[in-house]
Amino acid sequence: MAKEKKVETLEDIPGIGEATAQKLRDAGITDIIELAVMPLADLVAIAEISENQARKILEAARKFADIGNFVQGDQILEKRKHIAKLTTGSQALDSLVGGGLETQSITEFFGPFGSGKTQIIHQLLVNVTLPEEKGGLNGEALLIDTENTFRPERISSMSKALNLNPEDVLKRIHVARAYNSSHQMLLVDKAFEIAKEHPIRLIAVDSLTAHFRVEYSGRSSLAERQQMLNRHMHDLLRFADVYNAVVAVTNQVSARPDVFYGDPNQPIGGNIVGHTATFRISLRRSKGEKRIARLIDSPAYPEGEVVIQISDEGVRDG
Ligand code: GTP
Ligand code: MG
Repeated sequence: MAKEKKVETLEDIPGIGEATAQKLRDAGITDIIELAVMPLADLVAIAEISENQARKILEAARKFADIGNFVQGDQILEKRKHIAKLTTGSQALDSLVGGGLETQSITEFFGPFGSGKTQIIHQLLVNVTLPEEKGGLNGEALLIDTENTFRPERISSMSKALNLNPEDVLKRIHVARAYNSSHQMLLVDKAFEIAKEHPIRLIAVDSLTAHFRVEYSGRSSLAERQQMLNRHMHDLLRFADVYNAVVAVTNQVSARPDVFYGDPNQPIGGNIVGHTATFRISLRRSKGEKRIARLIDSPAYPEGEVVIQISDEGVRDG
């Protein structure tokens, strides 16, 4: 019997030519497993092929894809034993998510402008350098800054408020500007490299969605945008898993997240982001320095909301 041809690249799947493979790669689908798990409608939209063709391609991809194995519950338990928690600076907010932001997970902070997303990210960058007994992870941080809102001066004042040496803290924060969404995604690859040399325990993306929103505006690019965001989130989650790190991302949304997430006309990767993030915390303004943080559909913890305060010292209980 003739030896079966090895199936390694997208082009090895019957029905996928060079042009289709390129369209898929442009949309972030680079290997057979990613193709195999694509929804039919997305494949139709991205590859610009008929439903019939797409169905055949998916059947083939699923046959050849290495879908992975089931793991036993005790192995998952063993891995979860290493989960550590990072304090937000507010005990109330920490308790909302079971004692701080978890490693091996993604936490999304979403809310309108001025709701405190960037301030919380700054506080996390400082806190991760704290020793474990003070709620930190005794580690370093990576920030992917898409809106140029990182302020070292703010890190300094937050550090001083915790009796930390600002210069030491700043040395442990690695910042990269992301100039567009593909650059933003590449920076996660870079993060894996940096983490080989530095004990990175936090990777923050502020804002996760801003570039995607601008670059993929309009209905026709919706499927593509969701694919890219999905891929980006999974890359981040992989980083969280490999380095037992916290991932914190921000997402600016309209003042009515309930409406926003239910309305397909609204931009920004609502569903994709929502489904990949393990913890989703909505933020809204209250009186003066006070903000209301609310945990939304968490698998592990009850919904609830707390008041926090964003003061000169940083994030504290409200
Ligand atoms: P967008 O990125 O525009 O969506 O907003 P955001 O959610 O990131 O808001 P951000 O975290 O930038 O919050 C800005 C608010 O934080 C300001 O309006 C101030 O209320 C507060 N803030 C920022 N810096 C300081 C500071 O040094 N001291 C105090 N007390 N408050 C500050
Ligand atoms: Mg911001």
